Parts: sequence; C-alpha cells; structure tokens
Amino acid sequence: MKEMLILGIETSCDETSAAVLRGNELLSNVISSQIEIHRRFGGVVPEIASRNHLTAILPVIDEALTRAGVKKQELDAIGVTYGAGLVGALLVGVSAAKALSYSLGIPLYAVNHIEAHIAANYLSCPELKHPFLAVVASGGHTGVCRIDGPNQFTMLATTTDDAIGEAFDKVARSLGLPYPGGPEIDKLARMGSPTIEFIDNRRKKKTAELSYSGLKTAVVNYLHKSEQRGEKPNVADVCASFQKTAVEMLVDCAMQAVVDSGIKTVVAAGGVSANSYLREKLTKEGEKYGCSVHFPPMSLCTDNAAMVAVRARDMIAGGIQAAKLDLNAVSYLKIGGAA
Ligand code: KG4
Ligand code: ZN
Repeated sequence: MKEMLILGIETSCDETSAAVLRGNELLSNVISSQIEIHRRFGGVVPEIASRNHLTAILPVIDEALTRAGVKKQELDAIGVTYGAGLVGALLVGVSAAKALSYSLGIPLYAVNHIEAHIAANYLSCPELKHPFLAVVASGGHTGVCRIDGPNQFTMLATTTDDAIGEAFDKVARSLGLPYPGGPEIDKLARMGSPTIEFIDNRRKKKTAELSYSGLKTAVVNYLHKSEQRGEKPNVADVCASFQKTAVEMLVDCAMQAVVDSGIKTVVAAGGVSANSYLREKLTKEGEKYGCSVHFPPMSLCTDNAAMVAVRARDMIAGGIQAAKLDLNAVSYLKIGGAA
C-alpha cells in the first residue's frame, strides 16, 4: 500500500512551521522562528505573533514542499494544530490549512498540540512500544501522561497552576534574562550551584502533586529580599537552584507514575525537554527504576510541524474523523479530549 503524504502545519505560538511526512519518514520540517522579534518585549506579543505568522505561513509551506520534493497536488492529507495556543496565531495556520484542504480536495485533521509533542517520539524512536509514559514539559502544559495506543492518552498528573516552561520564563524575566528564559536559565545553571533552597509553602510535598506558581514566587521573593538588603544575588546559583527544584518535582512525579503503573518506558515531550538537567535527571532516575528513557532530538522538542504531521498520520490510521471547514482555533485543550 502506498504510504500517505501528509502536510503538517503549526502556528500555535511564535514558530511558523510546515513539514511533509511520508509514513514515518520526515521529508522536510521548516521552522521560521519569531523569537528575535518578541525578545525586545520580553515575551510573545500575541498580536505581533499573528501578523508574523500571516507573512510567513505561505512561504514556509512552499519551502516545506520544495525541500520534500513534493507538489501540493500529491498530498493525501493535512494536519494542523488547532489548540492549545494563542487563538490569533492558531487561526493563521487553521485558515491556511482549511483553504489548502478545500482547494486540493483532501481531508484536514485537527491536531492537539500537546498530543503532537508526545507523538514526536514516534519519529525519533520508531521502536517505541505501548504502553509508555510521557513526561510533558512545555510552556503551557506540565504533567505525566499514559499512552496505551497512538490515540489513547490518559493524564495521570498535571500541574495545579503554572506550567514548568512558564515558570522558567517568568523566573528568567525577574532575573533580567532575555526571552525565552528556559534556555538562558539552562545555560547559567551550569555555571552555578544549587545552594539556595526555594521552599514552596503551598505545595504539600506530595510526589504526585505538581505546582510551579509557588516556586516562582519563592524565587521572586528571594530576589526582592536580596535587593532590600543591598546584596547582589548570585544569578547562576539562583538559576541552578530553581532549575533543580523545578526539574526534580517533575521527575519525582514521573517516577511515582512508573511505580504506580508498572510501565517502564518513559519519553519526554515539549520545549522544556530540551533542558539539560531534565535530560540528565530523568535518564538517571529512570535507570534506577529500570526504565528505558527517550528524548526527542532538540529540533523535535520545541514547536515544529513534523510532530503535527505524525499526529495526523496516527489519527488517520485510528479512524478519527477529519475536521470540517468550520474548524475553529481553541486556546485551551486537554490532552486526549475536548476542552
Ligand atoms: O513546547 P514549546 O516549544 O512551546 C509550548 O508548547 O509551550 O515550549 C516552550 C517552552 C518555553 O517556556 C521555553 O523557555 C522552554 O520551553 N524551553 C526550555 C529550554 N528550551 C526551551 N526550558 C528549559 N530549558 C531549556 N533548555
Ligand atoms: Zn509546544
């Protein structure tokens, strides 16, 4: 049987991306990042993101097709991220995908962004077997998900407030570091020691519980107190200490899920899975618990359309219905189900 040619489109935040997938072979994955544009504002400005997606979307799709050596008339289906994310940004990808789907007469699949992050692992680890656990660590989502089949997701734990990436970005901002803060903290943490204990009074120290808002506040309070005392905080130590607490909370939660479920295959998903300490700690703890741990390559950790095409492929194989032309963008979307 001929393998399907799928175009993936991703515009949920500040990356405009298009990718072409044939079966499990990635033919192209073009990513146009707006990071430089948003850096001067210290974070993503939704209106500016939408406008930049508008100018980038068609050239990015054309480039993905050219690099793949594929004509659009050869495509069998399109997958597009419709949530979660910035609605104005998502709408640019959704509108382009609808127009292409209608004009080419091919089906369109509405992809959940976080499910796509998890699905990136099928591309980089084709031998991955179900069931497995996914440690979800992105700018908008944090938790541990059980995956029993390509279309069977069950969230076992989620953050009760902020996402881990959001905490990295907010802490970085209070330290005066540029956007996006995660990679900056990762870099600086390597030069410091985790000597400061950031206590989150609201968190009840249960390994199954995730919460990042109190940790972020603990760092901000520490910085204010240092300032009041006229002391200059050691930024590298603050980064190392925050990163250690943030990462270990998630890794503990993942290991608790390993023990509870008896599942010994663990993958990582989302932008924060690019973090060097998360990669080190999850690998080490996983080994202790007899798990095999897999991380997607960096290019598939942060936002990209390859993961969207993979997710669409699995939706098609699972008989999930194609989207209609009234598909809308949604800002909030649960894993494995409706908002
Ligand atoms: O998955 P992603 O690209 O977008 C969302 O779906 O949210 O994740 C973006 C997040 C940002 O918060 C960014 O700071 C964080 O991933 N991030 C990192 C690293 N690289 C990206 N956080 C910590 N360490 C990194 N190396
Ligand atoms: Zn993402």
